[in-house]
Amino acid sequence: MLNLTHSHSRMTLSASDSPRIVLGVAGGIAAYKAVEILRRLRESGYFVSPILTPDALRFVGAVTFSALASEPVRTSLYGDPTTPIPHTYLGQNADLIVVAPATAHVIARYAMGLADDLLTATLLASRAPVLLCPAMHTEMWEQPSVQENLATLRRRGVLVMEPDDGRLAGNDSGAGRLPAPEAIVTLIEKIVRGGESSLLAGRRILVTAGGTREPIDPVRVISNRSSGKQGHALAEVAARLGARVELVTTVGTELALDVRSRIVVRRVSTAAEMAEVVFELAPSVDAIIMAAAVADFTVVPAERKLKKETGVPEVHLVATTDILLELTKRRLPGQVLVGFAAETDRVLERAVEKMRRKRCDLLVVNDVSATGVGFEHATNEVHMIDRDENVTTVSLRSKEAVSYEILSSVATLFSRGEL
Ligand SMILES: Cc1cc2nc3c(=O)[nH]c(=O)nc-3n(C[C@H](O)[C@H](O)[C@H](O)COP(=O)(O)O)c2cc1C
Repeated sequence: MLNLTHSHSRMTLSASDSPRIVLGVAGGIAAYKAVEILRRLRESGYFVSPILTPDALRFVGAVTFSALASEPVRTSLYGDPTTPIPHTYLGQNADLIVVAPATAHVIARYAMGLADDLLTATLLASRAPVLLCPAMHTEMWEQPSVQENLATLRRRGVLVMEPDDGRLAGNDSGAGRLPAPEAIVTLIEKIVRGGESSLLAGRRILVTAGGTREPIDPVRVISNRSSGKQGHALAEVAARLGARVELVTTVGTELALDVRSRIVVRRVSTAAEMAEVVFELAPSVDAIIMAAAVADFTVVPAERKLKKETGVPEVHLVATTDILLELTKRRLPGQVLVGFAAETDRVLERAVEKMRRKRCDLLVVNDVSATGVGFEHATNEVHMIDRDENVTTVSLRSKEAVSYEILSSVATLFSRGEL
């Protein structure tokens, strides 16, 4: 089975079904390149339903698309002999809607929620992920209106492939060129088929990231230096390896385009909020990776801002719930639990002690006092300790590369559980 998730809904395809792509083509000079995108998608085994806007028909002919597609081109909301309500039929059955080229006009209409032709009506009548491939002259591309419309759509979960720099129509050149059909099809493959490998295909993985923030009063917080980078890298790499990911994070992030539709992001702030969301999601996942730096202590916050005029306040710390320990108690059969530890001295010794206390399957420890390691850095060096207290050291490398190592170990733990 091939599983697909995205921010709005979840669907399951049997491997024998061809993924269904709606290919929207708008009225831009690059519309002719959509023929090549269509041809390549069909060759890769996709079921492709093209929708051309009325203006696209001024640039390219419907006959070419119909001859190459899985079903005849549709261009209108009305008069379709195969279905009386084409926009809902197409939108509800799509695994992905791609608009290539996406004109400034179609982007604006989609951002506004207009549904005045079959393409925009289909975009609105669908929960499928959407990939826009804008193409236009540089002056149009740089217009604040165009950029603001795209920002609005991105915020709503729409995927936007940046145009290339290069030759444009009329001997001009600059930003706004439609990327090569091959690059567009490669991205579509990653979005629909779930990345570069099936090491974690069909798995659901919960990743936590970032440092929690415990309010002292309405303006101040106790927090830590965790940037969320390692947790976000783990989420992206897990999705790239085929998993569906729940990312519970305290930090905002721009996730990579090819995996965004496979990662559901839940934003939290305090340790208590993180615990609540993690416990809610835990029963439905195969593995939990606790990369977040969760506060060990919190405070009952003052209702009003503490004033220095009234002297130095005494802050009474109280222990938070130990999420990892609690998870080990609630663990489902076969569920893999990965803990993280940040240490500054007697690193391995303390990590082994923590492993004995927590009884997770893998403990990833980093010495945050070392150069280029841990908080805020783009790189990390970690030691992975398993239940038998075997230590594997992953030397200094990018957080993405470290994620591959951790997730390979998770995959090994899955396969051991199945023996
Ligand atoms: C020769 C020519 C080339 C055009 N190329 C583009 C283009 O590359 N990108 C774009 O956003 N608009 C382009 N336009 C403008 C669009 O065709 C116009 O905004 C139209 O309303 C788009 O309609 P649609 O988005 O509904 O298909 C072009 C117009 C002409 C006449």
